[in-house]
Amino acid sequence: MLNALNEQINAEQYSSLLYLSMSAWFSEKGLPGFANWMYIQFQEEMTHANKFFKYVVERGGKVTLKAIAQMPVDFKDIVEVFEKTKTHEEHVTSLINNLVDIAIEERDHAAQSFLKWFVDEQVEEEANVQEILDTLKLINGQGNGIFMLDREMRQRVFVDPTVTAAE
Ligand SMILES: [Fe+2]
Repeated sequence: MLNALNEQINAEQYSSLLYLSMSAWFSEKGLPGFANWMYIQFQEEMTHANKFFKYVVERGGKVTLKAIAQMPVDFKDIVEVFEKTKTHEEHVTSLINNLVDIAIEERDHAAQSFLKWFVDEQVEEEANVQEILDTLKLINGQGNGIFMLDREMRQRVFVDPTVTAAE
């Protein structure tokens, strides 16, 4: 169980850097709102990694940080960025589900309780990305719509999800 949780720290760190890379791409394309949204996504993923980090330490396990794989740095268009985000979040959901399976197998009730937060978090992550993808589909590449959405995404502020949730 602890080994699998250690792997998840790496996966969450990869997620955070994937979104930071996307944020950089949006900045370069002159879309500060999208860049802001992705930067907050980066910060959120860091809190996920830290939550796993703290849990492993709390359980007396050794955290072993590993090299993080190269994330993509270039994208075809805005839709592709969010499609990649969606695919990635679905992948993370499967990793979390796998962790839950291990926790059940090992009858690790503490881990099951801990992981429940992430199961719920993934539902929200996937829904958020889907909502943006739906909006992008409606906009259909029109400059005015992209401009409006960029302004809206500029409003997003970082709130540490691991702190606001009941501990
Ligand atoms: Fe995450």
